[in-house]
Formats: sequence, structure tokens, C-alpha cells
Amino acid sequence: MSRFEKKTVVITGASRGIGAAIAKRFSKEGANLVVSANEESVHAVADDIKRDGGSAIAFVGDVTDKASVVALYDAAEATFGSVDVSIQNAGVITIARIEEMTEAEWDKVMAVNTKGVFLCAQEAISRMRKHKRGGRIINTASGQAREGFIFTPHYAASKMGVVGITQSLAKEVATERITVNAFCPGIIETDMWAYNDAAWGKLLGDYAPGELMKEWVDGIPMKRAGTGEDVAGLVAFLASDDAAYITGQTINVDGGLIMS
Ligand SMILES: NC(=O)c1ccc[n+]([C@@H]2O[C@H](COP(=O)([O-])OP(=O)(O)OC[C@H]3O[C@@H](n4cnc5c(N)ncnc54)[C@H](O)[C@@H]3O)[C@@H](O)[C@H]2O)c1
Repeated sequence: MSRFEKKTVVITGASRGIGAAIAKRFSKEGANLVVSANEESVHAVADDIKRDGGSAIAFVGDVTDKASVVALYDAAEATFGSVDVSIQNAGVITIARIEEMTEAEWDKVMAVNTKGVFLCAQEAISRMRKHKRGGRIINTASGQAREGFIFTPHYAASKMGVVGITQSLAKEVATERITVNAFCPGIIETDMWAYNDAAWGKLLGDYAPGELMKEWVDGIPMKRAGTGEDVAGLVAFLASDDAAYITGQTINVDGGLIMS
């Protein structure tokens, strides 16, 4: 399969979890990858891709910082010439009762999950417009963009914000062969979910490690947690020519957890 040969894909939050799985999927389908995260371990993801015969560079940066985001897309263009697909995937969560949630937590979650999507999409779209080759903007939302879960008002707001950004930008670039879509993972087994299991488990009752996640997974119609590969299949479709007439949409990838 080489749906993405000669295409350059930038992906944030790609040092592990969902982002790393998406990057590897695009590499298998022939893309040049720019994998980015705010931790040095993102270099290992680029190294893995290259070891498997793919083409990748790593960029350590912060999606909340405009200068860092500009430098990311500069690096992509300097190495591969253009940006065809930009996947805004970096995200953070904290879990706390309302009285204990700090203003700093609110600001950080909004900055990474919402402002970070805006800054990266802004930079990607301006470059796609310059090259006039169309493009794909794909934003990571969450089941919490459909319905807020307990003890995470900042995270729910940040992910609902991603849907708003997606719809607004989709309208602005609709005639330029640039599509803008978002996806909502449900429960995907990553480091983030290990934290969720422990933190929600502590606040919701006396759960042993893994117990809360098991209870929630039992509530998924497909009766299993998702994998990064489950998510990557949807993202690759949204980036493909088959999705040329799909824009402004937010699509769940959650085993049927939320049906809307
Ligand atoms: N795991 C799930 O069940 C789940 C469910 C719904 C949505 N999501 C969303 O999917 C995305 C990926 O989640 P994951 O589970 O792989 O998380 P993860 O915690 O395993 O990875 C998060 C990634 O984001 C990067 N990151 C964090 N802050 C950053 C910053 N300021 N600048 C640049 N990079 C930054 C980290 O370095 C890491 O690469 C997130 O947006 C998350 O909100 C995850």
C-alpha cells in the first residue's frame, strides 16, 4: 500500500501512544513523517520508522508556543518541501474534584489541547495555501467532545473547543481542496489511560489498578479497549483521497461507546 507516497505528514504528540501508532501507519503507507512531541523520546519513534525503511525526522517542541510551532513546520518544509497532512494530536489531561482543580491545570489543558490545535492548524493551513496542493487537517478530539465526563471540566471544554475549531476552519478552506476533520477516541490503551485509571479510580471509589478501566471497557459494546492502530485506520482514511468530500466532521472511534 502506498496511498501517501510523496506526501508529508506532520504529527504532534507522536512520542508514544496514539500519535506514535498513527505515525507508523502513515510510514507503512509510504509517507514522509515529521514526528513531534515535547519529549526527547520522540527521536526513538523516528529511528524506529527509519529502521523499518521509512522516512522520518523528529522535532522536539511545544505546541503551546507559537515560535516552536513555526519552527516545526519550517523543519518539515526544509526537509520534505511541503506539508500535505497535519495531525494535531498532542494532548494532556488531569483529573480532580472542582475545589481541588487549580487555575494552572485549567490553563495548561486548554493551552495544549485547544490552543495547540489552533496554532498548528494555522501554520499548516498557511503553508498548504502557499503550495496550492490542497491538504488535510486532522484534529484529535475525544469522547469528551461529545459528553463531559466527571472531574474533567477543563478537558471536556478543551476537546469541545477542538470541534469548534474544526468546523470553523473547514468552512474557511472548503474551496481550496483542504479538508478539516476531527476524531474522538474512546478508551485507548496508552500512558494517558494508565493515569486515568489510577486518578479516576481514586476519586470514584476504592478501585485496584486496572479495575476501573475494566469496568468502563465492559460498558463498550465491542467489549474491548481500543488500540493506537484502531485510531490510525480512521486517521489514514481521513487523510486519503477517498475522504476528499468529507469536511467539518467529528468521527468517533470507540467501539460503539458513544453513538452520536
Ligand atoms: N488514550 C485515550 O483513551 C484517549 C481518548 C480520547 C482522546 N485522547 C487524545 O488522544 C491524544 C493522544 O493521547 P495518548 O493517549 O496517546 O496520550 P499520551 O499521554 O500517551 O501522549 C501524549 C503525547 O502528547 C505530547 N505532548 C503533551 N504536551 C505537549 C506539548 N505541550 N507540546 C507538544 N507535545 C505535547 C506528549 O509528549 C506525548 O507525545 C490526546 O490529544 C488525547 O487527549 C486519548
